[in-house]
Amino acid sequence: MPERDANASARIGLLTGGGDCPGLNAVIRAVVRRGLAEGYSFVGFQYGWAGVLENKAVELSSQSTVGILPRGGTILGTSRTNPYAGGKDGTAVVRQTLEQRGVDALIPIGGEDTLGVALRLREAGIPVVGVPKTIDNDLGGTDVTFGFQTAVQIVTDAIDRLHTTAESHNRVMVVEVMGRHAGWIATHAGIAGGADAILVPERPFDIEEVVAHLRRRHARGRSFSIVVVAEGAAPREGTLATRAGTETDAFGHPRLGGIGVTLEGEIERRTGFETRVTILGHVQRGGTPVAFDRVLATRFGVAAMDAVAGGRFGMMVRDRGAVLRLGERCGRWSSTESGSRFARRTDPSPRPVPASC
Ligand code: F6P
Repeated sequence: MPERDANASARIGLLTGGGDCPGLNAVIRAVVRRGLAEGYSFVGFQYGWAGVLENKAVELSSQSTVGILPRGGTILGTSRTNPYAGGKDGTAVVRQTLEQRGVDALIPIGGEDTLGVALRLREAGIPVVGVPKTIDNDLGGTDVTFGFQTAVQIVTDAIDRLHTTAESHNRVMVVEVMGRHAGWIATHAGIAGGADAILVPERPFDIEEVVAHLRRRHARGRSFSIVVVAEGAAPREGTLATRAGTETDAFGHPRLGGIGVTLEGEIERRTGFETRVTILGHVQRGGTPVAFDRVLATRFGVAAMDAVAGGRFGMMVRDRGAVLRLGERCGRWSSTESGSRFARRTDPSPRPVPASC
């Protein structure tokens, strides 16, 4: 890092990497507002690590963060660019850009890939504090990520709508949702929307069990069914042929999707019930964050800025609930002032932990 005048205010770099997610702007706003009050200045790298590698950035100020709290997407843009793709080592280029821009510390906001890069940079001596994000809610070290609740609400609303049309037409509706290799979105939205079957990547399904369940339901007089399937769900080995895509991103992740189409055909063929598929796709990542995600994102932003100010680098902010001994605090009245999980004064949650993903 560059030698700086001891009186000069420290400069923080921010970036958003990976898939976008409702709440990213709320983090940016929280970091900038918290830091400006403490005399820091900010630069935002554009399109994730691409902006760092290509030295493309914008100044972040109080003015440039006005009105962004409820906005979906990210004002900085994002990408799945990987400075270490194909065995390359982008550390030197990253270091050069940070020096040229006078950046003292970096706050990358991203999922396992973006934070994996952050960890490598930290190991190379670059001061970073990570902020976890993903609609998939599949990051270790934190109980919840912002964007997840918004995605769950979007899917739940869609299931509610599909119920009325399914009922009118006596159809089976298959709803394919995102989540990569985790079934969080499918499970939460499936439960909230009253789905009749929920298929997740964690438990390979047997198509015959699924159709037997639907047949039993319809034999009981039900004329329609809703099946929620996560994009990463797969049949039990040898039970059903699926088409696997070959496309991968810069981090080597396969592009998922299509299991819903397979199920649509198989359910209709095996049961004789008219079946339709809805692939919700990127609509799950779009639009304004729900209130929960705005609050969580704001807490993460404040905690990240505080970690930087405290020199606690190589950390990732998190939200982690804990099991309490009966009588310790549970069963007692809790307010925003009394140190609940959502508003600690002396022990601000989320707490920074080593960025280890
Ligand atoms: O990780 C978020 C996510 O939306 C996954 O649920 C999905 O598999 C993937 O990103 C889609 O990525 P892309 O926007 O690159 O198509």
